[in-house]
Order: sequence, then structure tokens, then C-alpha cells
Amino acid sequence: MAQIFPPGSNQAVRAVIVGVPLAVLAVVGALYAVEWSPWATRMWVPISQPVPFSHKHHVGQLGIDCRYCHGGVEKSQYAGLPPTETCMTCHSQLYTDQAMLAPVRQSLVDNRPIAWTKVHDLPDFVYFNHSIHVNKGIGCTSCHGRLNEMQLVWQDQSLYMTWCLQCHRHPEKYIADRSEVFNPGRVAAKDDPAKGLDWAKKLVKDYHVQSSGVLTDCYTCHR
Ligand code: HEC
Ligand code: HEC
Ligand code: HEC
Ligand code: HEC
Ligand code: HEC
Repeated sequence: MAQIFPPGSNQAVRAVIVGVPLAVLAVVGALYAVEWSPWATRMWVPISQPVPFSHKHHVGQLGIDCRYCHGGVEKSQYAGLPPTETCMTCHSQLYTDQAMLAPVRQSLVDNRPIAWTKVHDLPDFVYFNHSIHVNKGIGCTSCHGRLNEMQLVWQDQSLYMTWCLQCHRHPEKYIADRSEVFNPGRVAAKDDPAKGLDWAKKLVKDYHVQSSGVLTDCYTCHR
């Protein structure tokens, strides 16, 4: 009987068996890399602003508390941005003739807020609330990174659903004492050698953090 498959076909079949899954993996890997790239997530890209306001300078060096400028953060859904008057408590005397502060002075003259460019922007179909997190020992740093080292602010985390869920499933990995919430150098209790994971689990209980069943329910974030 004539040979149906030419010699060498075994090798060809073998190459296909190995090659196809590898190609699929490569495509999946590439899609994954794009999905998680700074381009797609907008992560780690410093956002330029009408005034080059520096958290590194005002928080890192001058030590001004977050709540001085983001007063809503403990009480409401939004942290909010400071009105121009807040800047002027210092800059009516300091740096008054600096060109880079011209938009701040103009804003006061025009009685119109400075047009800051948004750094974070969740889709409208997601419900988020600052006060809930801040009052349960989840610090700014867990979600925004080390502001005290940022000249211009960037988005430090993906803000993807998987990112929210990862903490909602295991808040003990991120929680710390409430007194640490505004500390830009804050570390999670589990990573603090003086505290550790048992301490973190105790905080979860003491602060009455809801069960992960509730926190991963679709309705929690899509209402
Ligand atoms: C002296 C006032 C001031 C203080 C203090 C301050 N901020 Fe800000 N913050 C601003 C201003 C003004 C902006 C808008 C410009 C920008 O995004 O860079 C801003 C923007 C931000 C943003 C980005 C907002 C967006 O558009 O998504 C985050 C996050 C933030 N601040 C966190 C913090 C945290 C955390 C602290 C404390 C560790 C802090 N800030 C302290 C004034 C301040
Ligand atoms: C508690 C006082 C205080 C407040 C409030 C404050 N600043 Fe400043 N700011 C300073 C000081 C001090 C400097 C640094 C002067 C120097 O270089 O020694 C400074 C510097 C600056 C500079 C120069 C660039 C830099 O960071 O070195 C800009 C721009 C600026 N501030 C913008 C703002 C804006 C916008 C606000 C309001 C959102 C604001 N500041 C609120 C005290 C303040
Ligand atoms: C659990 C994560 C998380 C924590 C903790 C957190 N933030 Fe945010 N923050 C976000 C998200 C998500 C947004 C975007 C909200 C949106 O687009 O609706 C945001 C937006 C902001 C904004 C933009 C303006 C606004 O009101 O939405 C500021 C300013 C800000 N955060 C400051 C802070 C400060 C200061 C703290 C600590 C006291 C803090 N955040 C803690 C997740 C967090
Ligand atoms: C680093 C940890 C952490 C991250 C990240 C985080 N959360 Fe939370 N979130 C918590 C904790 C802890 C609670 C529990 C508060 C409580 O039990 O009252 C909570 C509660 C909530 C609640 C209120 C639940 C309720 O019914 O009272 C909403 C809504 C919420 N988170 C939305 C989000 C969204 C949306 C994101 C992502 C953009 C997010 N969270 C990211 C830790 C986190
Ligand atoms: C802790 C908050 C949280 C919970 C709980 C949650 N989501 Fe989401 N969801 C988000 C955020 C934030 C986004 C927007 C970012 C993104 O697309 O990843 C999102 C996006 C989505 C999207 C749009 C996806 C896309 O790619 O555009 C769908 C669909 C969705 N969620 C369905 C669900 C379902 C179904 C559940 C329950 C099993 C659920 N979510 C639970 C936070 C949450």
C-alpha cells in the first residue's frame, strides 16, 4: 500500500501540537500585557496640570495633612479638590510674584476654580466611596501610592475590578490602624514587624469590616 503520509509528517504533526498552543499562549500573553500596560490602565504616567502643584513639596517636605486640601475624604463619597482660597492662605504671602502661580491668582480674580486635569476616573457604572474605606483603616497609600514622593500625581493602581476584589476578598492584607490612614509612609499592619498578620486580622474584626461575601457582591459596586 502506498504511504499516505510522506516521511517527515510525524515531525510536522509534532510541530503543530507544540506550536499551536505556544502561539495561543503568546497571543493571550500579548493581550494581557496590553491590558495591563500603562497605556491601557493609565498607570504611572505623571499628569501635567495648569499649575505644577507638587505633593512631594507640600506633603513630603512641608508635611501638610491630606485633609487640609481633601476635606471630604473622611465624610463623603468624594475626597474633593481644594478651592483656590486654600492655596492663598499661604500664597497670598509666599511666592506671590512667581509666574507658575499666575493661574492661581487669576482663578481668585475671576472667581473660577482652577481647571485641574483628573488623574483618576472610574466609569459611571461603578459606585465608590472614600469615607467607607478611610474609616475602616484603609489608607490613601494603598490606592494612591506614595504621594509624598510625587512631584506630579499619577495613577498608582489599575483601578480594575480585579484590583478592587483582591482587597475585598482579603482586607487583612491591606488594613492598618486608623491613626495611620493619612500617613503617606504608611505600611499595612501585616508588613509591620511590630504588628503582623494576626494584628491585621484583629483590626478587621475590631473595625467590623463586612464579610468578603458582602464585599464581593455585584450590588456593592454596581447599584
Ligand atoms: C496643599 C494642598 C494639598 C495637600 C496637602 C494634598 N493634596 Fe492631593 N491634590 C491637591 C491638588 C491641588 C490636586 C489637583 C492637582 C493634581 O492632581 O496634581 C491634588 C490631587 C490629588 C490626587 C489626584 C486626584 C485626581 O485627579 O484623581 C490624589 C489621589 C491626591 N491629591 C491625594 C492626596 C493625598 C493622599 C494627600 C495626603 C498624603 C494629599 N493629596 C495632600 C492638593 C493637595
Ligand atoms: C501651608 C502653606 C501652603 C499651602 C496651603 C500651599 N502652598 Fe504652595 N508652597 C508653599 C511653600 C512654603 C512653597 C515653597 C517655597 C519654597 O520654595 O521654599 C510652595 C511652593 C509652591 C509652588 C512652587 C513649586 C513647588 O512646589 O516648589 C507651587 C506651584 C505651589 N506652591 C502651588 C500651590 C497650590 C496650587 C496650592 C493650593 C492647592 C498651594 N500651593 C498651597 C506653601 C503652601
Ligand atoms: C480603596 C481605595 C482608595 C482609598 C483608600 C483612597 N482613595 Fe482616593 N480615589 C480612589 C478612587 C477609585 C478614585 C476615583 C474615583 C472616581 O473616579 O469616581 C479616587 C479619587 C480621589 C481623588 C480625586 C477627587 C475625588 O474626590 O474623587 C482624590 C483627591 C483622592 N482620591 C484622595 C484620596 C485621599 C486623600 C485618600 C486618603 C485619605 C484617599 N484618596 C484614599 C480610591 C481610593
Ligand atoms: C485596599 C483595600 C480595598 C480596595 C483596593 C478597595 N476596597 Fe472597597 N472596601 C474595602 C473595605 C475594607 C471595605 C469595608 C468597609 C466596611 O466594612 O464598612 C470596603 C467597602 C466598599 C464599599 C461599601 C460596601 C458597603 O456596602 O458598605 C464599596 C461600595 C467599595 N468598597 C467599593 C470599592 C471599589 C469600587 C473599589 C475599586 C475601585 C474598591 N472598593 C477598592 C477595602 C478596599
Ligand atoms: C469591589 C467592587 C466591585 C464588585 C464587587 C464588582 N465589580 Fe464589576 N467592576 C468594578 C469596577 C471598578 C469596574 C470598572 C473597571 C473594570 O472594567 O475592570 C467594573 C466593571 C465591570 C463590568 C464591565 C467590564 C468591562 O470590561 O468593561 C462588568 C460587566 C462587571 N463589572 C460585572 C460585575 C459582576 C457581574 C459582579 C458580581 C459578580 C461585579 N462586577 C462585582 C468593581 C466591582
